[in-house]
Amino acid sequence: MLSRYPYFTPLMSPPSMYRQSESPSSLLMENTFLPELPNGHETGEYLALDLGGTNFRVMYLRIADGKVVEQDFQRFEVDEAHRYGSGEDLFDFLAGCVQSFLREKHPSGRHFELGFTFSFPMIQKSLDVGILQTWTKSFKASGCVGQDVVKMLNEALHRRGDINVDVVAIMNDTTGTLVQGASQDQHCAIGVILGTGSNAAYIERVDRVKKWDHHQNGIKEVVIDVEWGAFGDNGVLDFVRTDVDRAVDDLSLLVSSFTFEKYFSGKYLGEVFRQCMLKAHRDGVLFESVSEKLNTANSCTTKHVSMLEKDTIDGTGHHLEAVMEELQQTHSAADLVVLRYICALITVRAAVLVSACISVLLKRIDRDDCSIAVDGTLFKLHPRLASLMETAIAVLAPKHKFHLFLAEDGSGKGAALVAAVAKRLRNRK
Ligand code: GLC
Repeated sequence: MLSRYPYFTPLMSPPSMYRQSESPSSLLMENTFLPELPNGHETGEYLALDLGGTNFRVMYLRIADGKVVEQDFQRFEVDEAHRYGSGEDLFDFLAGCVQSFLREKHPSGRHFELGFTFSFPMIQKSLDVGILQTWTKSFKASGCVGQDVVKMLNEALHRRGDINVDVVAIMNDTTGTLVQGASQDQHCAIGVILGTGSNAAYIERVDRVKKWDHHQNGIKEVVIDVEWGAFGDNGVLDFVRTDVDRAVDDLSLLVSSFTFEKYFSGKYLGEVFRQCMLKAHRDGVLFESVSEKLNTANSCTTKHVSMLEKDTIDGTGHHLEAVMEELQQTHSAADLVVLRYICALITVRAAVLVSACISVLLKRIDRDDCSIAVDGTLFKLHPRLASLMETAIAVLAPKHKFHLFLAEDGSGKGAALVAAVAKRLRNRK
């Protein structure tokens, strides 16, 4: 099926000059200091805090026998003033949200341990120390890069003086997804996010991890956060980079940074589609004229791509009409054919790029059977990304048996499970 699309074959064979690249890797491959997954005996009540997009969540979760059995949450919007303002204001705002959640849902004043899902690249020094490397996606708050965000959050929580909460573990959303996935499927060894951004975490042997004391307590494995959103920032992927990708990057908040996720992740796929439409128009194969809306940056979203892809499946054309209406774009019957083709191309390219990375992890982990937990709105809402990925992974890692599945809310449930594992590790010391 994939061979019907022209993008598939070229991506299979990068130019030979890149095969033995000497550029330093653009991947962080960060040790998360999480040496074990839930074992089914975790219990307790925890808070979790999930920061990664423009929406931020505070959650209460009760765990019994290694599973989340009760949960409650509140969503808050992190406005631009907080995302682009000072770090201290941002963390004070987060602490204020925790307080308002507790005041409403758990006013007893009791002590809570909190698992912090922080979906940005960080250098970890332990399970409860995370130094922000760089902001990604829609955040740019000052005074945070190079700082321990656990300390920043703890200080903000304690500064308030009206709540009794301690951050005990920090993790990336991919780690949370892997942990939540492992509680659903014991073969799970990879967690992937296909949402606003994209990234993966996987289980690595400690003897292959530099930042680890190999003789520690017989520990054999640890979770690694790949941060593949930055893959190719050193130039090794320039052979797949198009004018469209350059235009998307130029319009983004953090130019030249985390360029891999700009090829396909939820925050950018709509803009990739818009740039393709504008290019097709300039080349004289699409639309008589372009609407003001379509000419506006970010007017097209990943939801539009998913809607058009639904049409490709059900063949109705209803969604296409709705998308064109939203973009105030007049079109002909021939335009609709071109639009479907563009959507198919960018969808297949997304599937192949992500699958190439997953296939590398499958080969590295090299287990008989490996399950891959995936979460994120792009994966959930796109009607055929999952099946295209299954096909592509089977082509790229033919010797590896795998199972791709949706692990919902890894950044919430996973955070509580990691907090529970952190407690077990502390008690063992
Ligand atoms: C970005 C972040 C990464 C996160 C991903 C998905 O790539 O840098 O840490 O896992 O988005 O949210």
